[in-house]
Amino acid sequence: MTTIPEERHLFIVFGGTGDLMKRKLLPAIYHLVENELVSKDQCIILGVSRSEMEEAEYRKWAMEALKSTGDFTEETTRTWCSDCLHFQSIANGEDKDYRRLAKRIETLESEHSLPGNRVFYLALPPVAFEPTIRGLGHVGLNHSGGWTRIVIEKPFGRDLNSAHALNEIIHKHFDESQIYRIDHYLGKETVQNLLVFRFANAIFESLWNREHIDSVQITVAEDLGVGRRGGYYDESGALRDMVQNHLTQLLTLVGMEIPVSFTAESIRAEKVKVLQSLRKIDTDNIVLGQYTEGEVHGEWVPGYLDEENVPYDSTTETFVAMRLEISNWRWQGVPFYIRSGKRLPERSTQIVVRFHRPPVSVFNPYDRCTVSSNSLILTLQPNEGVDLQFEVKSPGEPLNIQTHDLGFRYGDVFEPLPDAYQTLLLDIIQGDQTLFVHSDEVEASWKLYTPILEADLPVYDYPAGTWGPKQAIKLPRTYDERWFSL
Ligand code: BG6
Repeated sequence: MTTIPEERHLFIVFGGTGDLMKRKLLPAIYHLVENELVSKDQCIILGVSRSEMEEAEYRKWAMEALKSTGDFTEETTRTWCSDCLHFQSIANGEDKDYRRLAKRIETLESEHSLPGNRVFYLALPPVAFEPTIRGLGHVGLNHSGGWTRIVIEKPFGRDLNSAHALNEIIHKHFDESQIYRIDHYLGKETVQNLLVFRFANAIFESLWNREHIDSVQITVAEDLGVGRRGGYYDESGALRDMVQNHLTQLLTLVGMEIPVSFTAESIRAEKVKVLQSLRKIDTDNIVLGQYTEGEVHGEWVPGYLDEENVPYDSTTETFVAMRLEISNWRWQGVPFYIRSGKRLPERSTQIVVRFHRPPVSVFNPYDRCTVSSNSLILTLQPNEGVDLQFEVKSPGEPLNIQTHDLGFRYGDVFEPLPDAYQTLLLDIIQGDQTLFVHSDEVEASWKLYTPILEADLPVYDYPAGTWGPKQAIKLPRTYDERWFSL
């Protein structure tokens, strides 16, 4: 179990009345306290928002939010909210408003006897990052008597230039060691397990290279559409929303070399090297798609263009599939297929590692004895687990070969997995940057994808409830590289 961090602090959330605070941050902090991973008087929360609100009204809002996301009891949430939760308006975000905020922070620190440790969590839309960082910097809130950390939600920039500009602004006011760029995928237990799986199991690591691996596939499939986020999503698209961050993080964890130690610096350094070794992506190796109406889990759902706040003529992609190559000693010649989309047949995040087939088949007759490649399937969600597919002789004559699984399911062994935000918030509080994205990683990743964003690529239709446009199905070059789920 993680040790309780000793340092008392103020946890300041910009976007304190927003959706992320309501659905993720508040419940995550509350669970950390409830599970005694953070002691109650150690983490005092200050919600900050443009709106004006009485503190009592804010606590009521927070209680409702907690009740709607978990089985919280009225009594304990009420006490927690009234003891630990505060609110401050930032009005129009002018210097005088930030000075007012700074005063309030000092007052709260003295009331709660806090030593000046502060987390500033920017749970804000991307346009608000820059003014907020400047606002904090101008009134000296970037440093304090204790430690100060700043947390930034994704998307971090829209392309290489904007990500670079945002990094420059942050670095003007904050040191990299103070910055926590969130990618919530890194907080998922199963994603963290990728490193343990690779580096604590020598049998797999010795096979983890071009000599033994034929191809790697990473799929992050969602059955939901864009829901009420059409406005944001249309500006973003699947490449910015999912591929540049979540899928790329998974790719780096699968592809990286063994770090010298299990520290943030060593792990991040190895991840950056993977990004730097990725070959420029040829546009023939990319397929973009947009869902049209169709049936998902037996329900007829509208197409993307009919979603709320989506322009009727939008060409934003809701699906991306691509073939990537990591040009280094370990991976030369091994294709990495990645794919992500909304309104696919199921919600599933999977990494499939396909090993080479035996070079010759010695079994006859050939039609019943075709030997498949062994596959290792890491299911990150749902029904989290690991499966190894292997060939088995089915009993009896004549000789017949079938593929079967050796499987491990988290659910058979462990309690339900914690939400990624709980893990990440605890790391922020404890000052562990291992699961956060370094400025070099963000820029290296944008460098790879910006040319694609700037290219005028066709966006093919696919009916909701299917695995993307047919062009994507044809992307794998050989039978052995075919998509694992179709
Ligand atoms: C978010 C994207 O980062 O990740 C969403 O903005 C997406 O569009 C979500 O739905 C998927 O996360 P998860 O944890 O449900 O796989």
